[in-house]
Amino acid sequence: MKRRDFLRSCGLVAAGTALSGPFASASSLIPGASPASGKDEPLKGLDLKIRDLAPNTDHPITVIVIGCGNRGGVYARYAEMFPQGMKVVGVSDILEHRKNRIGNKHNVAPEMRFGHYREVFASGKKLADAVVIATPDDRHYEPCMKALALGYDVLLEKPVAPTEKECMAIREMAHKTGRIVAVCHVLRYAPYFMALRSVVRSGMIGDVVSIQHMEPIQYAHMAHSYVRGNWRDSKETTPIILAKSCHDLDLLRWIIDKPCKHITADGDLYFFKKENAPEGAPAHCTEGCPHLDKCPYNAIDIYCKQKRHLGVLDLEGNYDPDFILSRLKDPRYDSYARCVFRCDNNQPDHYVASIVFDDNITASFTMDAFAPSGGRRTRVMGTMGYIEGDMKEFRVWDFLTRKPKVWNEKVAEIPEYAGSGHGGGDLRLTRDFVEAVAAQDPGLLSSSIDVSMESHMMGFAAERSRRSGKKEKIR
Ligand SMILES: NC(=O)c1ccc[n+]([C@@H]2O[C@H](COP(=O)([O-])OP(=O)(O)OC[C@H]3O[C@@H](n4cnc5c(N)ncnc54)[C@H](O)[C@@H]3O)[C@@H](O)[C@H]2O)c1
Repeated sequence: MKRRDFLRSCGLVAAGTALSGPFASASSLIPGASPASGKDEPLKGLDLKIRDLAPNTDHPITVIVIGCGNRGGVYARYAEMFPQGMKVVGVSDILEHRKNRIGNKHNVAPEMRFGHYREVFASGKKLADAVVIATPDDRHYEPCMKALALGYDVLLEKPVAPTEKECMAIREMAHKTGRIVAVCHVLRYAPYFMALRSVVRSGMIGDVVSIQHMEPIQYAHMAHSYVRGNWRDSKETTPIILAKSCHDLDLLRWIIDKPCKHITADGDLYFFKKENAPEGAPAHCTEGCPHLDKCPYNAIDIYCKQKRHLGVLDLEGNYDPDFILSRLKDPRYDSYARCVFRCDNNQPDHYVASIVFDDNITASFTMDAFAPSGGRRTRVMGTMGYIEGDMKEFRVWDFLTRKPKVWNEKVAEIPEYAGSGHGGGDLRLTRDFVEAVAAQDPGLLSSSIDVSMESHMMGFAAERSRRSGKKEKIR
């Protein structure tokens, strides 16, 4: 790309281009159906009442958190909110300060603070009811297999494992040991998607024939996670269709409720590569890059000014911009200051998949890195009606009455979920896992290990198709 083109593209995004077109808002396709028009009726009835997050248990389950980074902290938070349901009795992280951060919060005994996850299993004894596995993608398989062998129930971060073989082995082991494995497909537990699926399952829009689903990755999030960060290399972690979008494949499978037959995918890395580096850009944004004010991906803007994605910098509560800048210059963290055109990344920044389920129900899925905000957009086409939503609210059109009905968080009265990640799905999943372990009933979870595995197989097939250019059957 020429420098002029680079600058122009930067200018476009920096100007704050909003999403436009039919996915701009949930009501954009049907004239007169916007909230401002006052024509929408609230959607009522069905099974739309969302339960609160308190666990329905008579004793707390005990857990060991393996991987005390971002996600480990999210799940441990449930124990802070509801100590009657969950107690963190052990922690494991190769980084001392991370394991102690959660360890101190939960008064974990010194002998239950482990480094590498292998130390958790070294005694050969079961030390708690369950483990939470929130280590990087390529470090799920071994601790999960060891935990199952010792009789732990497992809350397992997605993606299950980087290869189909390892995924299958975990499934076999879960069956063999009869333990609960809850895969963190958190969007299934988000009130928004639960309500949307309830509408579909109620038959209100007739038979579902087709779905369009889009995952916009906010541009700075793309730069942080998939260009500079932990998920930049598909070989070290998993292809982006699994690392980022296995949730979406899982949602499609869950809403359509039929097995997937085949999938065709395309996508590539268009922008974040060496040939697009503007002239004179140094290796790090902190080394006097002359293009900072024209580049929306510049690390100083994202971390010091916008204060996004700060969890990785271990700031311990100090959000002073100068301190953040010093972290970006610190060799332990300076990978997050790298020029986005000079990283060792290979994940595609745009990806489309065409998916066919049983009865030839079709779905199209798009993942794009160039968007001002995240939040999935979904359209469900049924024989008698239609749903369109943006993860905050959705509208249901009935072709007979022609009157749209709206579901939003206010309608469901769920303020308790506010601020919980993935539209409330993070904490709701933790609650269901706690209840499933306490009652020893995997049926209390929305997703069995078998179904979770099916959507992972869709992801592996999509990636095979993207690389081969061929339609891939689901094995
Ligand atoms: N469900 C979701 O929506 C969702 C969202 C983000 C990330 N994830 C997944 O969650 C997992 C963790 O992601 P994260 O963002 O918390 O990453 P993170 O880097 O913040 O945390 C991972 C932690 O694991 C520790 N670790 C690494 N090797 C270890 C070992 N051998 N033993 C013990 N600890 C070890 C690291 O030091 C780090 O603190 C990843 O698999 C990721 O793909 C899922």
